[in-house]
Amino acid sequence: MHVTAVLNQKGGVGKTGLTAGVGGALAETGARVLLVDLDPQGHLTTEALGLAEADEPATVAAALAGHYTGPVAQLVAHHSKTDAGGVLDVLPTALAMFLVGRELDRLPAREWRLARLLEALADRYDRVVIDCPPALDVLTDNALAACHGVLIPVQPERSSVRALRLLLGQIEGLEAALRRERIVLHGLVPGLYRRPLSRLAAHVMGELDALPLPMLAHLPLAVVVGEAWDAGVPLTSYAPHSEHADAYRSVAATLQEQQS
Ligand SMILES: Nc1ncnc2c1ncn2[C@@H]1O[C@H](COP(=O)(O)OP(=O)(O)O)[C@@H](O)[C@H]1O
Ligand SMILES: [Mg+2]
Repeated sequence: MHVTAVLNQKGGVGKTGLTAGVGGALAETGARVLLVDLDPQGHLTTEALGLAEADEPATVAAALAGHYTGPVAQLVAHHSKTDAGGVLDVLPTALAMFLVGRELDRLPAREWRLARLLEALADRYDRVVIDCPPALDVLTDNALAACHGVLIPVQPERSSVRALRLLLGQIEGLEAALRRERIVLHGLVPGLYRRPLSRLAAHVMGELDALPLPMLAHLPLAVVVGEAWDAGVPLTSYAPHSEHADAYRSVAATLQEQQS
């Protein structure tokens, strides 16, 4: 089972859209995919994929905090199957996710709790993609502890390069603190910009390009992304022949080059 975290502490940069899109692209290749909605706001669960939040007591939040100790598989919500035999499932968010950070702070090995939960599902899924909250908090630390590699969606805006430096520093710091193997930086996915690029956006894009991180695919603003969310399906199913579906597929292909 190969685990990817989609992270950026800035909000509205396309984390959730990328998670849903890449999840759909992986599933259409026949992979059994589990998406994890780690953002308390729950946009992946409710907005992008049209699923319900989990009800107490069987929630990821309760499992992370140690209140739920039943089978982890019971926390999973099924979204869809693909013609190729792939599966798209979700560990949905719950309201309690807003409070779980404080509870985790009191627990031993608090960064490792998601990793432990996912271990219990290792036979069921080929690929896991974690949608992180817009914060460098203990939930994001859990995603970093649990993942093999990260995808970083970015917007070509003035503050992005600085935010990215902070993020890369956090990843390195956590690797050291947890004494875990290196986290693979799969690359950046620039998105949510208007075409043609403004001069500022073009300048920032140049700065991003100069960083020692690959740019995997571009996801400029497109109406079809919002339409797919409204329909509650990944863009790869909603508009399979669109430019954005191909962008998600190319990111998925990069992940699939990595051994699980
Ligand atoms: N390429 C895109 N084109 C148009 N809208 C997009 C695109 N990517 C994401 N969105 C929309 O922009 C908003 C923010 O994106 P989202 O993925 O939720 O960001 P984050 O998870 O980083 O907060 C959402 O409403 C989403 O539907
Ligand atoms: Mg989000």
